[in-house]
Amino acid sequence: MKITKAVIPAAGLGTRVLPASKAVPKEMLNIVDKPAIQYLVEECALSGITDILIITNRNKSVIEDHFDYAYELEDNLKRDAKKAGLLNSVHSVADLANIYYIRQKETKGLGHAILTAENFVGSEPFAILYGDDIILTDEGVKPVTAQLIDAFNAYGKCVCGVKECSEEQVMKYCTLDVTKMGENVYDVHKIIEKPKRENILSRFSILGRNIVTPDVFDFIRKTKPNETSGEIYFSEALSSYAETDKLCAVDFIGKRFDMGDKLGILQANCEAALRHPEIGGRFAQYIKELAKTL
Ligand code: UTP
Repeated sequence: MKITKAVIPAAGLGTRVLPASKAVPKEMLNIVDKPAIQYLVEECALSGITDILIITNRNKSVIEDHFDYAYELEDNLKRDAKKAGLLNSVHSVADLANIYYIRQKETKGLGHAILTAENFVGSEPFAILYGDDIILTDEGVKPVTAQLIDAFNAYGKCVCGVKECSEEQVMKYCTLDVTKMGENVYDVHKIIEKPKRENILSRFSILGRNIVTPDVFDFIRKTKPNETSGEIYFSEALSSYAETDKLCAVDFIGKRFDMGDKLGILQANCEAALRHPEIGGRFAQYIKELAKTL
């Protein structure tokens, strides 16, 4: 089955990376020469997604500007033939996909944000890419969203993208109770959001990618807001969903970076810089020199 719709929740407050995210949304923070969210939209386009809903809030209109034409800038670049490459890089961003926007009017958690996508999604299965989770894949490897779509079609179950994480990371994200189904595919029985160390079920955590069917909205609606934060956790809705035996996990191929975390931003920039055709070689040289001084 072809999956053509994706939802990118990008309405969080980004408190972990303040003050950088005070006026610039964390999803717009730079990775070498592109804002983080452009990597997500490119991943969608390469995975066969044609329609993307970005969930924003009142401080994030700059995201809309980025995926639009920029007439004045483009007109200026057009005057210099040497800037044709730059012109193309600016112009083509607006044509990566049909992009739609909706505002989450109150910041009440990822589950609450995803509920705003219900009308956009209609009756089709769709992808969810968390706006601050960037996953880089090596050349020749399918983008992670495409890897998950393959599993959705092969197993007929909703899919979450997972990776083994350190205990400290699991305690910040979530933990999954799983049994192996295929080479890198697992049946999911239960998920606990932000577990205490003694409640860790496995070191697998969901890292920013899911393929789900619209019945997931009913499960989100039934999920109670967390008593402390007041947020509706999407992983809790997915945990109830897993009880229906309709959820699997793919241990995807790719390296994931958390753009909501200071170290994650630096790691994403280093890795993307090393892979960059224009500056990769010089940056590697710089890192080697720097390492000698440590
Ligand atoms: P996070 O929990 O990592 O983002 O949500 P956050 O709330 O911005 O983080 P901190 O703790 O304040 O630093 C994962 C994704 O879900 C989106 C975020 O924008 C991020 O891309 N999100 C989160 C929403 O769209 N709405 C929300 O209410 C919460």
